[in-house]
Amino acid sequence: MDCLVWLIHGLLILMLSASPLHTHAMPPPPPVNCNATGCVLQNSYGAWGDRKECHASSISYPTTEEEIRSVVAQANSKKQKIKVISKFSHTIPKLACPASAPENTILLSTAMYNSGIVIDSRNMAVTADAGVGLRDLIDKVEAAGLSLVAAPYWEGVSIGGLISTGAHGSSWWGKGGAVHDHVIGLNLVVPAGKSEDYAKIVELENLNPNFNAAIVSLGMLGVISKVKLSLVPGFKRSIINIFNNDTSFQDEFMDLAQKHEFADITWYPSRHVAVYRYDDRVPLNSSGDGINDFIGFQANLVLVSKSVRATEKALETARNVKGKCAMAASVVGFKKLAANGLKNNNLIFTGYPVVGPQGRMQTSGSCLHSPTTSTLSTCAWDPRIEGLFFYETTAIFPASKFRDFIHDVKKLRDLNPDNFCGVDVYNGFLIRFIKGSAAYLGHSEDSVVLDFNYYRADDPTTPRLNQDVWEEVEQMAFFKYGAKPHWAKNRNLAFLGVQQKYPKFTKFLAAKKQLDPQNMFSSNWSDDILFGKETIKGMGVPWKGNAYVQKIDTVTQPRGTSANQA
Ligand SMILES: Cc1cc2nc3c(=O)[nH]c(=O)nc-3n(C[C@H](O)[C@H](O)[C@H](O)COP(=O)(O)OP(=O)(O)OC[C@H]3O[C@@H](n4cnc5c(N)ncnc54)[C@H](O)[C@@H]3O)c2cc1C
Ligand SMILES: *[C@@H]1O[C@H](CO)[C@@H](O)[C@H](O)[C@H]1NC(C)=O
Ligand SMILES: *[C@@H]1O[C@H](CO)[C@@H](O)[C@H](O)[C@H]1NC(C)=O
Ligand SMILES: *[C@@H]1O[C@H](CO)[C@@H](O)[C@H](O)[C@H]1NC(C)=O
Ligand SMILES: *[C@@H]1O[C@H](CO)[C@@H](O)[C@H](O)[C@H]1NC(C)=O
Repeated sequence: MDCLVWLIHGLLILMLSASPLHTHAMPPPPPVNCNATGCVLQNSYGAWGDRKECHASSISYPTTEEEIRSVVAQANSKKQKIKVISKFSHTIPKLACPASAPENTILLSTAMYNSGIVIDSRNMAVTADAGVGLRDLIDKVEAAGLSLVAAPYWEGVSIGGLISTGAHGSSWWGKGGAVHDHVIGLNLVVPAGKSEDYAKIVELENLNPNFNAAIVSLGMLGVISKVKLSLVPGFKRSIINIFNNDTSFQDEFMDLAQKHEFADITWYPSRHVAVYRYDDRVPLNSSGDGINDFIGFQANLVLVSKSVRATEKALETARNVKGKCAMAASVVGFKKLAANGLKNNNLIFTGYPVVGPQGRMQTSGSCLHSPTTSTLSTCAWDPRIEGLFFYETTAIFPASKFRDFIHDVKKLRDLNPDNFCGVDVYNGFLIRFIKGSAAYLGHSEDSVVLDFNYYRADDPTTPRLNQDVWEEVEQMAFFKYGAKPHWAKNRNLAFLGVQQKYPKFTKFLAAKKQLDPQNMFSSNWSDDILFGKETIKGMGVPWKGNAYVQKIDTVTQPRGTSANQA
């Protein structure tokens, strides 16, 4: 056991500590592969099943808005369906997966429609082509002395893709933490009748009745071609992480979110620790050139990612809860020392507060970048390397319900805290804030987002360690407390009954009927998610209340097949 603990500790240190080699990261693989017989789409985790599932007849890479219009027009005149994809494909559910008759579906990729970024300093706004990467947009905006207030923590996404799924950072201030609430206009390319040459570009601004449908539209209303975002004068951020015990965070989160503009909380339940991120806007002339290079998004040596995966697999196979806990203790300890990847002067962490420009403090993803081509290191989950493979649950609660939910999870945790080591090995429970939104598929009230990742087996017949615990937490969130699933995360189970959770759901459908009357942008895969259908097999058992731990033995989602997680 001691040996094992040291092995784990050593591996994790290698994994988590920055080394000069990390600058030679191999970028992620492209999500789509085509040959003479057609194309196969994957997501960035390589978790979308075998070669038949997300299959389309062809792909096009338009480079201008007019080319997008013409691709849509052609497909419309030939009665083909379209799925829009980005260069990144970082969404977990199969929203972008083509329909049941693949020969009749084409993919439209925004990967090469990625360079237009027009800044209007006077009106503090930026208009970007939908395929522009978040990092490119932010760098350009910051170079003009402005800042984008909200962004997801992960920078490897396109502007069109991220707003389509409601991606967010954390804030209850101003317009809040969700990026779509900073959108002030967008262009949508939709099918049209013959008299309009089969497709048209509609310009939607705040007052247009379809605007609130389009900002979060899951790729199902049309192709978003341009996105206009509001900006603010450039600013810096000052971050301090406070490691507290976890006795009272469920009573303090509201206060924290009200006092600190970009606050979040990371709860490590097995460690009885809640880390409060005091994160505030400070003036641009404050001293500090820090960067938030989040540890989980740094590049890792391929060998190390593989060894960590192999170790975790061995612990799972041996049902070794204590080994997982040793791993969790190492991870949490190391993250504390390394400030989760915050670096004061772009190099190392020397102490709090870490102050740096908004553009480098909000979002990160250094594993994506590749100054030289090398296969030595990658993002830890790169599907080519047999590295980390995990599952992501994200539940979004009305703020008023979150406290009781945490009380329930604590009761479950207190039965045996070691059962929770499996999430602490990853990022614990990440708690973030998003503000009430007018988007029909957004959150109409101030909300709390809970994210947690955990082991996912390669083999569909292998139950994961403490599977019952994760199912319990998941079902309490979605069924007892009525949390909504993040559109870009989760397995299909979480989407059951999702329609009833959105008061404006029918308005979204009405907009879809108007803009995409033939359902050109729908597939049976994306319909399963939007309508929360109960068609996916092996979803576990529904929440029945009362018992905190139901003894169930459902299987995990396999690497390379579609069971359980769309
Ligand atoms: C490591 C990691 C970290 C993440 N962190 C966060 C986070 O902190 N916060 C958060 O909220 N989310 C997070 N996510 C989720 C991520 O933000 C979303 O999955 C985002 O939508 C991905 O953007 P993408 O460009 O890869 O979109 P894709 O996955 O390519 O597409 C997403 C959807 O949008 C549609 N779409 C894409 N482009 C267009 C377009 N131009 N017009 C119309 N439809 C379009 C697609 O059809 C699909 O339905 C994370 C994901 C990963 C893998
Ligand atoms: C093309 O790809 C498909 C799916 O990946 C595969 O089944 C088929 O054999 C490939 N065809 C050729 C000609 O390579
Ligand atoms: C979609 O249709 C295809 C072909 O009919 C089928 O193989 C697939 O399982 C369906 N997917 C869903 C989610 O129903
Ligand atoms: C948790 O911290 C609070 C103060 O922040 C303290 O009063 C309390 O005793 C601590 N609880 C435990 C179990 O350590
Ligand atoms: C920053 O600028 C403001 C106003 O221009 C000034 O009052 C303040 O002292 C400056 N702060 C620093 C740290 O230079």
